[in-house]
Amino acid sequence: MTISLPKQSKMLTKDFTFGVATAAFQIEGANTTDGRLPSIWDTFCATPGKVLNGDDGSLACDHYYLWKEDIELISNLGVDAYRLSIAWPRIMDKQGRPNEKGIHFYRELLKSLKIKGIKTFVTLYHWDLPQHLEDNGGWVNRDTAYRFVDYVNLATLELGKWVDAWSTFNEPFCSAILGYEYGIHAPGLASPKYGRQAAHHILLAHGLALPVIQQNSPQSQVGIVLNMNRTYAASAKSEDQFAALVRETLDNQFFIEPLLNGQYPKLLEKLLPEYLPTVLPGDMEIISQPIDFIGMNFYTCNHNEYDEKTLFKDVKNQQQVEYTDIGWEIAPHAFSELLINLNKQYNLPPMFITENGAACADELINGEVNDDQRVRYLDGHINAVNDAIEAGVDIRGYFAWSLMDNFEWAEGYSKRFGLCYVDYKTQKRTIKRSGHAYKALLESRK
Ligand code: FCB
Repeated sequence: MTISLPKQSKMLTKDFTFGVATAAFQIEGANTTDGRLPSIWDTFCATPGKVLNGDDGSLACDHYYLWKEDIELISNLGVDAYRLSIAWPRIMDKQGRPNEKGIHFYRELLKSLKIKGIKTFVTLYHWDLPQHLEDNGGWVNRDTAYRFVDYVNLATLELGKWVDAWSTFNEPFCSAILGYEYGIHAPGLASPKYGRQAAHHILLAHGLALPVIQQNSPQSQVGIVLNMNRTYAASAKSEDQFAALVRETLDNQFFIEPLLNGQYPKLLEKLLPEYLPTVLPGDMEIISQPIDFIGMNFYTCNHNEYDEKTLFKDVKNQQQVEYTDIGWEIAPHAFSELLINLNKQYNLPPMFITENGAACADELINGEVNDDQRVRYLDGHINAVNDAIEAGVDIRGYFAWSLMDNFEWAEGYSKRFGLCYVDYKTQKRTIKRSGHAYKALLESRK
């Protein structure tokens, strides 16, 4: 079983970047070391019932200590680029002063990647808000956007030299909506009023940070990472078609439309005005400044039917389809459709696929992990990206999620997404069959 692309694919040329991705909280551990402050995810993990098996980020993949070994692993996979995130609570203290030890960690890491010839894609916010800011209202408080700019100023001044591409945020939908509207991620608040206001402040923070990054790190590209699922109507009935439209509007358009067109979806004004945040004069201009790229994270699709109370509700696909270990439908066609639709709807900047991957119930047997499902998943989705490129979407890179198994948020360590297997007892990493297949694809470019 292999991952392969058509011979003439643009993805096999040197202009296309292949990488692997991780995020700080999911791999670093050492969450009280060298002055790192608590984040909302430490608090969430410590709240009974929030994270499966009471798992937390205190050890994770012990990457804070094993990073040199991990760079070898990244380099062994033969990738062009590595996408990582910086933990805000590691590099700045409560008073907004630099924490030199935390900065040192990222400086050494980024420098070593550059020495290996690996491009660095760095996310400034991958969900780990310092808890002391949450205590003041977190993303529901507009002031947090300005605190973010202080943090970004520090990070980009100190580290900008070694960064090829900065992303301000990873998945504002998840931070704002899963965290403040559904309550299933940190900090666990649950109201559309909070969720949508948090989303607005995150988008505002993105816009406020852009000129600061451009000033401090002029040679780097700057963008933002969004996550999207393609939503299908559960049937041809008009109410189900409507349900799917509402779902995509709230999940997808709500985030991309302000960034690219400077407005929240008009549909909501009539339909769900309570889902529109308070916007101050000038905010939308700040949010919609030009960016160098959009990162897109894609995993699965949804099927929705009409519900009288909530307008839409998730149902299972009526067809026989395959699911991953986290219960997400495998739907590569949905990926190319989503990208092609977006390209019709918006004037898109260049795109990078910043995350894509599968959770599988992997087992290490005689030193090997035969994750055939993940190999098939990657093959299907990488080819879906190729289809979107063929259809005219400007996609410049693809990052597999993830380099290695790690802390999967509310699912704790129960879900494995890695191309490398992590034995959490010994912290030994083993390249899975999918990792070898990915490497072989990248080698086939020579
Ligand atoms: C995305 C997150 C990433 C990872 C994958 C599976 O939503 O950005 O950190 O957990 O899902």
